[in-house]
Amino acid sequence: MRMIKWQNGTVITPDQTKLPLLEVTLEIKSVDQMAEAIKTLRVRGAPLLGAAAGFGVALAAYHSNAKTKEKLLAELETAGTVIKRQRPTAVNLFWGVDRVLNKAKSASGSVEELKAAVVEEAQKIADEDAAQNRAIGKNGSVLIKDGDTILTHCNAGELATVEYGTALGVVRAAWEQGKKIKVIADETRPLLQGARLTTYELKRDGIPVTLITDNMAGYVMSKGLVNLVIVGADRIVQDAVFNKIGTYSVAVLAHEHKIPFYVAAPKSTFDLTCKVADVEVEERKPEEVTHIGSVQIAPNGVSVMNPSFDATPLKYVTAIITEDRVIYAKDFGKFRKGKV
Ligand code: MRU
Repeated sequence: MRMIKWQNGTVITPDQTKLPLLEVTLEIKSVDQMAEAIKTLRVRGAPLLGAAAGFGVALAAYHSNAKTKEKLLAELETAGTVIKRQRPTAVNLFWGVDRVLNKAKSASGSVEELKAAVVEEAQKIADEDAAQNRAIGKNGSVLIKDGDTILTHCNAGELATVEYGTALGVVRAAWEQGKKIKVIADETRPLLQGARLTTYELKRDGIPVTLITDNMAGYVMSKGLVNLVIVGADRIVQDAVFNKIGTYSVAVLAHEHKIPFYVAAPKSTFDLTCKVADVEVEERKPEEVTHIGSVQIAPNGVSVMNPSFDATPLKYVTAIITEDRVIYAKDFGKFRKGKV
């Protein structure tokens, strides 16, 4: 199912903050509306953010009254800056904006032709992501055996991408091949993407899923209930994988229990110019920790940390599954040379 669609100057996508209890469709018509949807995680997940970023700039182009290409390009640059300001860690957001801006800068022809080129490029990002996730699924499915139980963290499914999912794309591909597999989903505090979104989409597709709280991951591994871990990524740098907060703990636990730990991500999530120290980890508002939904669970004024992502050093990663191939740990050295 397509998670994001362009319809005559409107971007259609589910409001992920409402799931699983309500299925609400957003109709986003401006850059500011797109920025708000990104900031509040109505639209979320690295690959989906890449497509949303492209469509955000496309909205600015489509609705612009600029009469000259110079004026239009200036408006698109501003739109790109607004989009990029919303979340600092997932590299796809920056990649999506830059891709459509570069297209706009190199486009020849009239103002109208430039607008059309921008919309077309944003659509291309979405189409490519859908195809890449199916390729990731196919490549990763060889790592899953009939009867396996897979632990995952956060939501790297259809909802986090344009279609099919990355980590859950691998699960889906294995399931479609007839392998009788099960998923254990970490709830993923504070915003519960695992409890709300991963279980929702797997249940909908009839793939067996069991929900646990984050602090049960060690228990299920120690009991031999997990054969492998697969997670997505928000940014893969030279020395680590950034993903949802808690991923690092799961990776260390998997290492201790000799359970393979796989990362599934498209090449658009690689940022091999960076190392861990170069990446800003998004710090979100304290209320996400002091509250569950709208219910306060901690005393007023308590000091809170709320980093949204952590970095898992590559030494804990068994392999990275991309749309091209599975990159095993022995080849990670080539990362520094930018060879993926
Ligand atoms: O804060 P979120 O919900 O955008 O974080 C999402 C994740 O951490 C996902 O695991 C990651 O983006 C990969 S999605 C295929």
